[in-house]
Amino acid sequence: MSSQTSTDPLLILSSALQTAFEAVAGRTGVDPVIRSSDRADAQANGALGLAKELGQNPRQVAEAVLAECAGLAGICSSVEVAGPGFLNLVFSNDFLSRLLNEVASDPRVGIGTVPSKRVVIDYSAPNVAKEMHVGHLRTTVIGDSLVRMLSFVGHEVIRENHIGDWGTPFGMLIEHLLDLGETQAADHLSLGDLDGFYKQARTKFDADETFQDRARSRVVLLQSGDAETRRLWNLLVNLSTHHFNAVYKLLGVLLTDDDLMGESAYNDLLPQVVNRLDKLGLLQQSAGADVVFPPGYTNREGEPLPLIVQKGQGGFNYATSDLACVIDRVERLQADLLLYVVGSPQAQHLAMVFDVARMAGWLVEPNEAVHVAFGNVLGSDRKIMKSRSGDPLKFIDLIEEAVSRADAAIAAKNPDLSETERHEIARMVGIGSVKYADLSTDRVRDYVFDWERMLSFDGNTAPYLQYAHARICSIFRRADISRVSVRDVVPTLVEPQERELALALLAFNAAVVDTIDKYSPHRLCTYLYDLATTFTAFYEHCPVLKDGYESTRQSRLALCDLTARVLNQGLALLGIETPEQM
Ligand code: ARG
Repeated sequence: MSSQTSTDPLLILSSALQTAFEAVAGRTGVDPVIRSSDRADAQANGALGLAKELGQNPRQVAEAVLAECAGLAGICSSVEVAGPGFLNLVFSNDFLSRLLNEVASDPRVGIGTVPSKRVVIDYSAPNVAKEMHVGHLRTTVIGDSLVRMLSFVGHEVIRENHIGDWGTPFGMLIEHLLDLGETQAADHLSLGDLDGFYKQARTKFDADETFQDRARSRVVLLQSGDAETRRLWNLLVNLSTHHFNAVYKLLGVLLTDDDLMGESAYNDLLPQVVNRLDKLGLLQQSAGADVVFPPGYTNREGEPLPLIVQKGQGGFNYATSDLACVIDRVERLQADLLLYVVGSPQAQHLAMVFDVARMAGWLVEPNEAVHVAFGNVLGSDRKIMKSRSGDPLKFIDLIEEAVSRADAAIAAKNPDLSETERHEIARMVGIGSVKYADLSTDRVRDYVFDWERMLSFDGNTAPYLQYAHARICSIFRRADISRVSVRDVVPTLVEPQERELALALLAFNAAVVDTIDKYSPHRLCTYLYDLATTFTAFYEHCPVLKDGYESTRQSRLALCDLTARVLNQGLALLGIETPEQM
């Protein structure tokens, strides 16, 4: 966002100060070094560094900067030189009011756009013929929110669902399908019992040698492109993706069949990957396999660690298909940025793949690949979350439980709602709770899945934020005032709580920029939670409808409306819906 159109007070301040610092320095590119401060809205510490450069006293430099700062008049109500040469700055209320009014007339509520990049996001990636379980929650939910944010600020986002649809297990799965008979297998699988099907195949495979042989020959047929085998394989893939789609739809994530780009899609590229590495002189032999040694990786014995691209018998593996993936994304899709929303255990695998791709010249600056890693979801015993049967908790069961728990909570809170209304709200709140609990934890950390906490109306939770939003909607409903009618009101900031709320509202863009910068949705969650608590303090201290003055009432209603819009937009960027009543 260019500074002229920005509604972020800190950005505007920063560019005004920068001009003054540059005038004093006699050169461009001086950083005013702005940070937050207890004493003021902002503090600029740039005079310290500049004084050293100019061989002058920092306080004098700070004074000189102030003298150059004609532009600050419309921005700050107070500017003073403090301590060794800090500038303490306080925004003027008029300036903040004017910005609020600008944000209110902006359908994007202050969120700017950035120069567009083409971004491929690899996320969700469940495995065919296996149930989606709680282990796929984080990649799906974090990926979905990054897709929403990156698109919103103007990037061209390509979603890729790198499903596990290839490899040796398909031999046994296809043979099992044949044993059951296609119709019966299809019935079985369309009931959503993918895990049962997989387990049966596995059990047979472990117990029966002839079945093992059949499975192995079937893999060979599959790899050589045998038409009938391909047809059977397709059947398995389609039944699985049908199940994945049902989960995505229920959860409200954007993935569809158009985004499927599974391991099998890179099949034809695999020999090419190895040939190209060979031509570049990067291939080496290690224990009978073709490998690349990217520098800097060692095993437990301290020996160099290879990335295996072709096994002894000629088979390719996961690393080969991930290298093909990089080639495809950079060369065919012309992507600038590749994001991989994949669990932390795959950190070394991805780092090695990226390094080999760089060595091969497939991934060259400014093109970039980033592992957006995340930790585990733990049960109350702090172990990987399991269902009562000991299997990983099924995704679909998790969502259904969230919605039914939310339904009970809403019924208790608001018994007047009709059943249809309540079910719809429960869907938004239940699913929102699961997503928010996940997104609000720093993604690199593990977190404990806790129904009570995530569904609580207090604390940093979806229901708390959704409720804050619904409460604002209800203020307007009760007063029978349309929300749009207050959007051209310029709010007047008199009480400290009004000013705090204004500052929080105007920090929305900065929070989104920061969240995208670190690919860390919890930063946006923290912002929204702060906004909602700031709103609560405002609402307690500043009567909205009861105030006797029409102008105060209008001004406060305008603040309410804008708060609801920012909450709504912020949650939408996280993939969470906001009911108008709760
Ligand atoms: N299907 C893989 C798994 O379940 C995740 C794939 C992640 N994406 C990738 N390009 N490797 O572990």
